[in-house]
Amino acid sequence: MTHSWSYHNPVDVRFGGDAIATLAECIGTARYALVTYDEPSFAGLTGQLTKAAHAPAITVNDVLPNPDCSNLKAQIDRFWGLQGAMDLIVAIGGGSVIDTAKVLAAGRYGFDALMTQVRAGVVSGDLSPPPLIAVPTTAGTGSEVTCWATIWDEAEGAKYSLAHVDFYPRTAVVDPALMLGKSRELTRTTGLDALSHALESIWNKNANPVSARHAVFAARTILRDLPKLLSSPDDLPLRASMAEAALSAGLAFSNTKTAIAHNISYPVTLRYGVAHGIACSFTLPTILRSLPPLCGFRDTALDELFGQERNAGADQLAAALRGMGVGLSFKDYGVDRPEAEAIIEDAFLGQRGKNFIGTKYALFAAAQGDGLI
Ligand SMILES: NC(=O)c1ccc[n+]([C@@H]2O[C@H](COP(=O)([O-])OP(=O)(O)OC[C@H]3O[C@@H](n4cnc5c(N)ncnc54)[C@H](O)[C@@H]3O)[C@@H](O)[C@H]2O)c1
Ligand SMILES: [Fe+2]
Repeated sequence: MTHSWSYHNPVDVRFGGDAIATLAECIGTARYALVTYDEPSFAGLTGQLTKAAHAPAITVNDVLPNPDCSNLKAQIDRFWGLQGAMDLIVAIGGGSVIDTAKVLAAGRYGFDALMTQVRAGVVSGDLSPPPLIAVPTTAGTGSEVTCWATIWDEAEGAKYSLAHVDFYPRTAVVDPALMLGKSRELTRTTGLDALSHALESIWNKNANPVSARHAVFAARTILRDLPKLLSSPDDLPLRASMAEAALSAGLAFSNTKTAIAHNISYPVTLRYGVAHGIACSFTLPTILRSLPPLCGFRDTALDELFGQERNAGADQLAAALRGMGVGLSFKDYGVDRPEAEAIIEDAFLGQRGKNFIGTKYALFAAAQGDGLI
């Protein structure tokens, strides 16, 4: 008997071309809200869109990196306080913008009602959000093809992952030219986030053969092209390659969620201020080293990426990350050993930790062996 599995992703993806022209066509005569950053280059895009389509009914541009509860309440009040229904929401920006747009869209019953569900761990019911068109300007989060949104509560030291089928954008418009303005550091951290999504979707209980294919393409492309792009940030074909890789990583983890590296990352970001892409990638070689013997499509995927010998593969991945300036020890981020051990212990208790196919015992053994802790 063969094992059974399913793969699903409902997002209409439009890659390449001129994003503004594609957006104008998607918007047509619709009444729409625009979510973006309050930055000059994004104001320029807003101007182009207003010219090519028509003006948005509302622009929400007070989006901060890592959308925080302190801001979202006022944004939801403003958005849902408008007279008349919104036909569409257009989000132009990175994961923070796209996730803010998802939360806004889901806020029909108010921020407090949404947060009650979020704190209880399940967002359920019919949210009936306006359809979302996501235009990613980073090659990282994959939020344009996932039904997750991440929100942060810095005051409480908490991070929440919202999951609901209504959070899938209707359309993703991916134009690599919009990513040319990213700094080297933003390119590095977002690219490493995408690498982590790809690998975390492979060592994941929810993996399936299709998610694994997307993940192999994504990880192989990132390991090959991200170092080159860091040296040539104006290279459009390399930007396109990274955009396709981040999108593919999104298509992979849209079906699996992330796993242990992400759960380890959240306290490292919240307590030590480490950028998400670094916090979720510095543990990857150790996690690879710790994996139990696998069989089937997961094993094939890892063999294709790193060869058949896991330790040698982990060394290769470690060298690639070090080459991109990633420190591979908790100490590099100011986290001492007892704290690192506590973070790893806790990470196994959370939902994403439970997605991981490896064991705590093996991860601690690998972490002691290779100097992660
Ligand atoms: N929903 C998901 O599935 C998912 C997955 C991973 C991460 N996330 C979340 O996404 C957020 C991070 O998103 P991100 O990494 O895309 O960055 P971001 O949206 O937080 O943006 C970071 C900074 O980059 C700048 N920027 C973005 N695009 C630019 C461009 N093309 N040129 C110049 N500057 C640009 C912005 O102005 C901003 O200041 C985090 O909150 C993270 O938790 C969500
Ligand atoms: Fe991530």
